[in-house]
Amino acid sequence: MLQYDKIRNELHEEPKRWLVTGVAGFIGSHLLEELLRLDQQVVGLDNFSTGKRENLDDVRAIVGEQRWRRFSLIEGDIRHLGTCRKACNGAEVVLHQAALGSVPRSIEDPLGCNENNVRGSINVLQAACDKRVKRVVYAASSAVYGDHPGLPKVEDAIGRPLSPYAVSKQVNELYAYVFSLLYDIETIGLRYFNVFGPRQDPDGAYAAVIPRWISAMSKGETVFINGTGETSRDFCYVTNAVQANLLAATTTCRQAVNQVYNVALNNSTTLNELFYKLQERILPYFDHVRGTKPIYRDFRPGDVLHSQADINKAEQLLGYAPTHTIDKGLDAAMGWYMAKRQTEH
Ligand SMILES: NC(=O)c1ccc[n+]([C@@H]2O[C@H](COP(=O)([O-])OP(=O)(O)OC[C@H]3O[C@@H](n4cnc5c(N)ncnc54)[C@H](O)[C@@H]3O)[C@@H](O)[C@H]2O)c1
Repeated sequence: MLQYDKIRNELHEEPKRWLVTGVAGFIGSHLLEELLRLDQQVVGLDNFSTGKRENLDDVRAIVGEQRWRRFSLIEGDIRHLGTCRKACNGAEVVLHQAALGSVPRSIEDPLGCNENNVRGSINVLQAACDKRVKRVVYAASSAVYGDHPGLPKVEDAIGRPLSPYAVSKQVNELYAYVFSLLYDIETIGLRYFNVFGPRQDPDGAYAAVIPRWISAMSKGETVFINGTGETSRDFCYVTNAVQANLLAATTTCRQAVNQVYNVALNNSTTLNELFYKLQERILPYFDHVRGTKPIYRDFRPGDVLHSQADINKAEQLLGYAPTHTIDKGLDAAMGWYMAKRQTEH
């Protein structure tokens, strides 16, 4: 039996009390969905800066009213220690997702990035200690690999950061390490690599590439590629990231805690390949994408050229076994985006 199936059965039989920060965001709402499906007791914390109430409505419709009653929301900000303490009250595990994402946003607003991602995260750690939470699993990022040329990326070989966002995520890791060293708390960092899936926001200047391109293609707008299109990423469907969180939250292996892990597939897809994968999937819905080509423009500062994860450590220590390839994930995500677009019209 896969480790993930085993721990889901155990959680079902013996539910835990969880805090999910950033619960109204893309990944946070998927964590909430899975936890409620497993009949867990969940508190969510979000200030709705980038998160959406409709993400929570979506989860509610999926899990049903009975399970939804096991969830309570605190509308608040991780920049406030008192709010974090209130949210941590009674929690056994914290899944800390709240942060301001996006490299370009952090270049435009480094102070905002620092306040939300660094100060906010140390507040979560401090509050978790104060309230005697056993373990904090937090969203780290592949951005910490920065200018390190090695591929695939291995956890203990990081480079210099290329953006304030990368700095903030590296500082999170340092604080988590020091907290687990000095205080009675366990931490596990999950370095996500380009997570995608339903509920990822397609709108705004800071949208991630997959939802932004799905939106542009379906509206008949031009798709821009920054650089030559040979930039590559290890795109990871959100279900795999949820699995990594639950494995990290429940592992009883001593060596597995107070560590960081890559979360992706050890796969490489160039932006040019991604363009055609999306085009192929949108064609049955919108014939206007037939034969369209992307427009190339300058490479964005702060972005890394290639990103691909070695996932050996998560496989060995956590029993991580991703279920969704990029193609399977794109099929699932496309169904959701197209259904959403139909209800909007
Ligand atoms: N999506 C990815 O590909 C990816 C990759 C690497 C790391 N991450 C990290 O994963 C986490 C989740 O990312 P996501 O893609 O779901 O982003 P998201 O923007 O959809 O979710 C973040 C959530 O945090 C909330 N939030 C932000 N600042 C807050 C604050 N000060 N107080 C309370 N709530 C706050 C937002 O309202 C939002 O609901 C983030 O920490 C992000 O940095 C994501």
